[in-house]
Amino acid sequence: RMVAPVALKALGVSATRSFTASARAKNKVAVVGAAGGIGQPMSLLMKLSGKIEHLSLFDIVNTPGVAADLSHCNTKGKVSAHKGPEEMGAALDGCDLVVIPAGVPRKPGMTRDDLFNTNASIVKGIAEQCAKSCPNACFLIISNPVNSTVPIFGDVLKTAGVFDPRKLMGVTMLDICRANTFVAENQGMDVDKVSVDVIGGHAGTTIMPLLSQVKGAKFSEEDIKALTHRIQFGGDEVVKAKDGAGSATLSMAHAGAYFAERVLDGLNGATGVKECTFVESSLTDAPYFASPCTLGKEGVSEVHGFGTLSPFEQSLVDENVPALIKMAKKGTDFVKNN
Ligand code: NAD
Ligand code: LMR
Repeated sequence: RMVAPVALKALGVSATRSFTASARAKNKVAVVGAAGGIGQPMSLLMKLSGKIEHLSLFDIVNTPGVAADLSHCNTKGKVSAHKGPEEMGAALDGCDLVVIPAGVPRKPGMTRDDLFNTNASIVKGIAEQCAKSCPNACFLIISNPVNSTVPIFGDVLKTAGVFDPRKLMGVTMLDICRANTFVAENQGMDVDKVSVDVIGGHAGTTIMPLLSQVKGAKFSEEDIKALTHRIQFGGDEVVKAKDGAGSATLSMAHAGAYFAERVLDGLNGATGVKECTFVESSLTDAPYFASPCTLGKEGVSEVHGFGTLSPFEQSLVDENVPALIKMAKKGTDFVKNN
């Protein structure tokens, strides 16, 4: 079940067990895009956890101000600021984990794929520097379109000879947050006790919640259709409400900080850490696919299957695998041609 570290703190519970257990080891974390709508609140949540020894903030603008501000929070951990391409190497040097929310967000009427032209080159440039400065880190990609930016990042690492499939993850955690929230509302359940697996990708119908597997829930056919649609298009709900001022930032900051903490838990030796994430996968014909994964000392230690699907879920998978293949190819073609 997913509980934010800050929420745990508020309850007087020590923030995730494994972070406490993590002591020193894997603890330099960079946020790339740290001055943005996601980057700032996500960095705040990470700083508040008190569990990151060195939080390294990189952006092409404004990181000195963000870092100075965050560094006054009386929680453990050093914060450093790095601004502009010439400081990116120093930001990434020696990192164990790099979280990447760099790039432009959607406006109403756009699909995530409409961001490709701008964000593909941003992500490619970041991947090239990561390959040089911290090839052994885990990379968590938030920048959209995730279904293409993760393959881009992977291909840059492959070209540089440093790709490790266990260490490259597309962040789909916001889909799980939404699924848990909407299902809890629909079923009148305690949201802390709801855990929905969401598989596939991170765009429209490629987001596939496995509602048939939710323990303790009873859905009507209409519920299943309506909830699935709402989870798939939750991002559009926020884009529309923000009315031109961007897409989800606060819920993404929460989801990103939580997921980063879970990856760190695994890196630092916690066992039984399992979350859905978008990884290189042989579960379907799509080269990358989100499914439940165990997170261990080297990143993803096991890509789990998605269990028995209902006929509705199976039809979603059958319909969306071709789209995932196409979006991955668009990413790999971009790397080939640029
Ligand atoms: P934003 O515009 O508020 O912030 C993006 C930041 O990236 C800016 O500060 C910008 O200066 C920085 N940036 C641009 N180029 C950079 C580079 N080369 N190196 C480092 N930093 C660079 O946008 P946002 O709302 O924070 O969203 C960021 C991205 O995250 C978007 O692509 C958005 O679609 C995506 N997103 C993904 C999810 C998800 O679930 N995976 C959820 C929400 C948003
Ligand atoms: C989301 O799901 O909120 C993000 O991918 C941002 C978007 O463009 O919807």
